[in-house]
Amino acid sequence: MLDCDRFSVSYGPVTVHFPLMNTTFRTPEELWRACWKLLNRARADKKHPYATPVVSSVDAEGLPSSRVLVLRTCEESAGWLEGYTDRRSAKAGHLHHPEAQFSWLFWDPKKQLQLRARGRTEFLPAEISSATFDQLPKHSRKAYATPEAPGTPLAEAGDGLPDDWDSRDLSATDYARDNFGIFRTTIETADILYLNRDGHRRVSAQRAPEGWDFRWVVP
Ligand SMILES: Cc1cc2nc3c(=O)[nH]c(=O)nc-3n(C[C@H](O)[C@H](O)[C@H](O)COP(=O)(O)O)c2cc1C
Repeated sequence: MLDCDRFSVSYGPVTVHFPLMNTTFRTPEELWRACWKLLNRARADKKHPYATPVVSSVDAEGLPSSRVLVLRTCEESAGWLEGYTDRRSAKAGHLHHPEAQFSWLFWDPKKQLQLRARGRTEFLPAEISSATFDQLPKHSRKAYATPEAPGTPLAEAGDGLPDDWDSRDLSATDYARDNFGIFRTTIETADILYLNRDGHRRVSAQRAPEGWDFRWVVP
């Protein structure tokens, strides 16, 4: 069994646990699997280091920008990652290009595992994001509820929300539905770096017609 903290071998009814060493990752697939284990944990635990990746995009001029986002969902077998954002944000504008890609960067200092994952990115259909929006509590709707688009200049410091936000009931925040978007990056390439004092390890992953092509590369 592969685990991020230990490596276990069973001898009949007895299981021996070895601490994490480079030998834990004997194949690129094991490193890939370890990263997905962290992603799946992060999905459920918002305090997990993989829960707040840095996501990068480029604008129409090719100028890059990066920001921290919350990883909302991920799917290992299909190889995709999802986040929420305001459809009026700069990053959403970067998705207008039909070939738009996002690059996600994850780092877990305890596991010493960096994951970079890049691929075509698009918004899910409005009926899906609308159904998700219905489940959002009022405090989670805040991020999509400013009457002016994110990044609009303000005359003075402020959160940009309507003045009567605090007194509104949930239904009075429904207008934010139109701003709420779920984007999905279907991973095409990924790069995993595992830091270890006995020797770093790095794996390159490429989506292939049937699964993934992995190769060890020089760290
Ligand atoms: C911890 C943390 C979590 C964040 N989560 C999100 C998020 O899930 N979605 C989002 O659009 N912005 C999120 N933000 C804000 C973004 O980092 C960014 O400031 C905002 O989305 C505007 O980015 P843009 O102008 O590049 O589009 C988060 C920021 C921090 C610090």
